[in-house]
Amino acid sequence: MDSVSSNKSFARIAGVGAYLPERVVSNSDLEQSLTTTDEWIVSHTGIRQRHVVAEGQNCSDLGVEAARRALTDAEVAPEELGLVICTTCTGDYANFPGTACLIQGQLGALAAGAVDMNAACTGFPYALALGRGYCVNQQKPVLIVASEVLSRLLDWSDRSTCVLFGDGAGAVVLLPSTEPGLMDEVLGADGTNGGVLFRADGTSFETGEKRERHFLEMNGKAVFPFAVRVMERVIDELLERNHLAFDDVQHVIPHQANRRIIEAVARHMGVPLERFFLNIDCVANTSSASVPIALDDLYHSGRIHQGDLVLTVGFGAGLTFGGNLMVWRK
Ligand code: ACO
Repeated sequence: MDSVSSNKSFARIAGVGAYLPERVVSNSDLEQSLTTTDEWIVSHTGIRQRHVVAEGQNCSDLGVEAARRALTDAEVAPEELGLVICTTCTGDYANFPGTACLIQGQLGALAAGAVDMNAACTGFPYALALGRGYCVNQQKPVLIVASEVLSRLLDWSDRSTCVLFGDGAGAVVLLPSTEPGLMDEVLGADGTNGGVLFRADGTSFETGEKRERHFLEMNGKAVFPFAVRVMERVIDELLERNHLAFDDVQHVIPHQANRRIIEAVARHMGVPLERFFLNIDCVANTSSASVPIALDDLYHSGRIHQGDLVLTVGFGAGLTFGGNLMVWRK
């Protein structure tokens, strides 16, 4: 790895990894148990299949595998890490210990701090922003792991939600750098609108009331226009603040929630859809893992080149939204 003895003012992504569980559930598999069709799912979402964890396989298991791949790619040993951030809304334990601690322990990254972050599907842009700060301030490698097992929160008899999600993990390693890698970020939230996408299980800390609504609940029609609006806003803000035009950016990596949302953003902005990376057909919506899984796919298939400008953009429960701008310097 780079020497970190002299102060470096920037952070860059030095390693990328991802892991998808072996079991694949296709739309035709879902046709066996739900009143749905492959044609409806593909035409309304772009999804053809999703990966689903095996019994006994948890968020930390997926996260450790993705993390090992990212560390190998970065040529960084776990003992060198200064911080492990895990973004998840489906961690191994409902409250504690944090999944980042479990991952830190399994990796043997015992010199690193470990913390979970939950910004739902926007977790990765948030973690990249905060990880960049720690990496530069402390001059230490930071591991960001986004891992999700949404399949455990789904009502598999509810066709309006269960067809949309999948399980998986993505990870990146940040290193201090003399040249800009991660350049800028936009983070936002609209906390007045949380009721359109939530999971109510658990005990209310206000009343002590035991809630028994285990499953994810969503008003998809309300989320759709919000998603289109904030994704366009994040892209515009990142470009404007950095004096860039859309054409300067080689790759936009959007949260993969629905192909139609991404098509609507491209149409509304009057920019080519081809510039937005899409792998939702194979993986569905993996919540906070979706952006790093897409990044891994793009990078390991040789489509990102040194010096390319890459923009990530996402939205999620909260409601939250955010994105990052970076120069690719691996
Ligand atoms: N198969 C067949 N029919 C279905 C299915 C299904 N899987 N799901 C819903 N339908 C039916 C509905 O019951 C409805 O039937 P009706 O007209 O007889 O009542 C009809 O299809 C249309 O339903 P809509 O909900 O209007 O379908 P819409 O075109 O809005 O698509 C969808 C639904 C895909 C959920 C869309 O609204 C969407 O993608 N919204 C955004 C969701 C999202 O991105 N959420 C974020 C995920 S979480 C996160 O990333 C933070």
